[in-house]
Amino acid sequence: MSFRLQPPAPARPNRCQLFGPGSNTKLFEKMAASAADVVNIDLEDSVAPSDKDIARKNTIEAINTVDWGKKTLSVRINSLDSPFWYRDVVDLLENAGERLDQIMIPKVGCGADIYAVDALVTAIEAAKGRKKRIAFEVIIESAAGIAHVEEIAAASPRLEAMSLGAADFAASMGMQTTGIGGTQEDYYMLREGQRYWSDPWHWAQTAIVAACRTHGLLPVDGPFGDFSDDEGFRAQARRSATLGMVGKWAIHPKQIALANEIFTPSEAAVQEAREILKAMEEAKARGEGATTYKGRLVDIASIKQAEVIVKQSEMIAGQ
Ligand code: COA
Ligand code: MG
Repeated sequence: MSFRLQPPAPARPNRCQLFGPGSNTKLFEKMAASAADVVNIDLEDSVAPSDKDIARKNTIEAINTVDWGKKTLSVRINSLDSPFWYRDVVDLLENAGERLDQIMIPKVGCGADIYAVDALVTAIEAAKGRKKRIAFEVIIESAAGIAHVEEIAAASPRLEAMSLGAADFAASMGMQTTGIGGTQEDYYMLREGQRYWSDPWHWAQTAIVAACRTHGLLPVDGPFGDFSDDEGFRAQARRSATLGMVGKWAIHPKQIALANEIFTPSEAAVQEAREILKAMEEAKARGEGATTYKGRLVDIASIKQAEVIVKQSEMIAGQ
């Protein structure tokens, strides 16, 4: 480790973030009753411009009246290039009760975007005597967002999580696809006439995970558009989990169980991690820093790898 230690990410489950438009009031109770760890009421792109005012009003009423249980309750505001975002922040912070946990800021392009929202939120919190500090989460979904990802991750102590928004990201990057996450038909390697599909989201995900881990945020995979393709969702989510992401969005209730399944360490994985820790304890007692587990090398780094899995499992079980 560097002299500057890696800060821990918030110790709360974030396996699934369920979205629903703020204009669709009939979804709120269903979202609250779901098995998602995080609920995101949307004021941004799933709400038509003519519905922004009513969606804001509905959202505030729902925050104040629906029983959200132990969920992390987050509202996605409009982006800073829109005429709507300041009113989202002012109305939410002035009129929504302390049950609101988090604001999601979409399409961030630089640290100053976070600074602007932070300044406004801080002033309203003080003016209104709000007791609970509102947390922030952001979406990286533009070329500027990914180019400045580390600066963004460091921009405010309010920041808890960062998601990749595949659709807007693809558009901003000029990617030739209309798919939202997952395998893209034309992104393949050719070998001896055979196609091998690769992952066009991989580097953006990895950059997000590195920025998040450096600054103690939760890295989250965003939406998977084709909600009739369970195996496609699982494949994307497994890749994200392998890269260090802690969860994924659900844009339809069908996807909640899938996300919870993939982002909860399996019993077999936890069992193996515990066995590795035990093997290393025994090695330590013998004065050894490395040993063999099931025919492969395990050493002091393996302890840290195994602890990631065990700690994640214990944190989720403790909720
Ligand atoms: N949260 C909770 N419940 C939801 C839901 C959601 N996001 N989306 C649908 N449901 C419910 C429906 O109300 C329906 O309930 P019922 O069985 O009691 O009638 C059930 O799940 C099945 O819904 P279905 O008919 O398959 O979907 P739909 O046509 O009603 O809605 C979408 C499809 C995609 C429009 C809807 O899921 C949606 O709005 N998703 C969120 C979009 C969003 O927020 N996007 C922004 C982030 S990318
Ligand atoms: Mg978007």
